[in-house]
Amino acid sequence: MYDFFCTSQTASPLELINRDQLEQWLELQDERVRNWVKAARTKDCPFISIPNADGTPERFLAFLPSQDSIYLAGELPNQLPSACYAASFPLAEDDQQASLKRDFALSWGLASYQFSRYLETTNQESCCLRLDSETELARAEDYVSSIFLTRDMINTPASDMMPEHMSELVSSLASEFGAEFNEVVGDDLLDQNFPTIHAVGRASVHAPRLLELRWGNQNDPILTLVGKGVCFDSGGLNLKPGNFMRLMKKDMGGAAHVLGLARLIMASKLKVQLRVLVPAVENAVAGNAFRPGDVIKTRHGLTVEIDNTDAEGRLVLCDALSLANEESPELVMDFATLTGACRVALGTEVPGFFCNDELTAQGLNEASIRSKDAIWRLPLHRAYLDMLKSSIADTLNSSPTGMGGAITAALYLERFVGEQTPWVHFDVMAWNDRKQPGRPVGGEAMGLRASFDYLEQRFGRHG
Ligand code: BES
Ligand code: ZN
Ligand code: ZN
Repeated sequence: MYDFFCTSQTASPLELINRDQLEQWLELQDERVRNWVKAARTKDCPFISIPNADGTPERFLAFLPSQDSIYLAGELPNQLPSACYAASFPLAEDDQQASLKRDFALSWGLASYQFSRYLETTNQESCCLRLDSETELARAEDYVSSIFLTRDMINTPASDMMPEHMSELVSSLASEFGAEFNEVVGDDLLDQNFPTIHAVGRASVHAPRLLELRWGNQNDPILTLVGKGVCFDSGGLNLKPGNFMRLMKKDMGGAAHVLGLARLIMASKLKVQLRVLVPAVENAVAGNAFRPGDVIKTRHGLTVEIDNTDAEGRLVLCDALSLANEESPELVMDFATLTGACRVALGTEVPGFFCNDELTAQGLNEASIRSKDAIWRLPLHRAYLDMLKSSIADTLNSSPTGMGGAITAALYLERFVGEQTPWVHFDVMAWNDRKQPGRPVGGEAMGLRASFDYLEQRFGRHG
């Protein structure tokens, strides 16, 4: 499927060691190789090409990154000569081999990513990594294609990732995995009682939609994923300044996360009845836009006074969460690029999560460590609900002070989730602000691997 993975027979050996293991490695080599490597090595070269007696490159030695991460392949797929490689870890412990190989394969795939939709020319032919078995190949491809889906959706400009485009995308994802697809479009949102989704999306020429995908076995527990699909967030009448608006094509990052995660769940046949809900809207400005001071009666029944039209994410999410809750699922997880406050608290690379269930939170923390995918729990500090008090409605949509913004946003959402329903809310950046190995600047899946690891551990796979 991807040209950067293969199972071919002929591949150049690519040996991976830690930089401080070089002396140890050299001792295992014959004199010719030893001399060559000593002469060829420089302080920060990522790899050394070792020729055979005729001078043709035969083997490669590369250094693992010093930080403990899954990104073991660094940028090697973009640095090595274009060829086929078989990676090995000659100095690693036996019980580490399998996980090193898996991380290497995944990071190799992730480093080979390029968003080329609008480029006439793409990078030179990529290198390919030989995987040991069809099973390993399938696993690497499932992860990579899910994360690429998330990245691609976020990177796609708003003009090509409007609610109608997202609808097509969810519908084709459903077909690919034999899932059901459903949607509520435009004024039907009012008829079917999704007032907040309609209010946020109605000013756009791209009709708002609630997209739904259902997959799996009726006997399995229901897992519902909800993703914020704000295709572009201008702020609405509380218009964002230009520099704050610049990246707001990524405001459907939550939707991109749940669809990437859904893809991985379906490809891995997790024992769940999966339901995905994506409220897809553009937060635009027009004469019929919703306004600060307006009061909307939500699907739940609570009335919300609009303090700020730029706090639109929680509005589209609250009606979707109410719908999710109506069938009493086993677990609800939502992903959203919800607040600027969360990145102030944790920086852009650690998604915050909130959870009303201790066991689930603990499971997620453990999964985060296992999968080396950073996430951090923030508190549902209920005393802060005071900040959402309205004098004319049940709640405000945002706190006028802005203090603890990620928490008050989560507390707003919590009111729409049943007390009996275990619920996780992820506040994600969905964007790499800086380039790191395997992580180009642009759309990124954050907390997706940790979430999948948790779900896989909890629910297991079929077959
Ligand atoms: N989509 C933004 C949040 C956001 C901004 C996430 C930048 C990541 C990077 C959201 O709709 C928003 O504008 N939130 C406001 C809420 C405020 C008005 C209460 C925010 O966080 O400033
Ligand atoms: Zn906003
Ligand atoms: Zn937003």
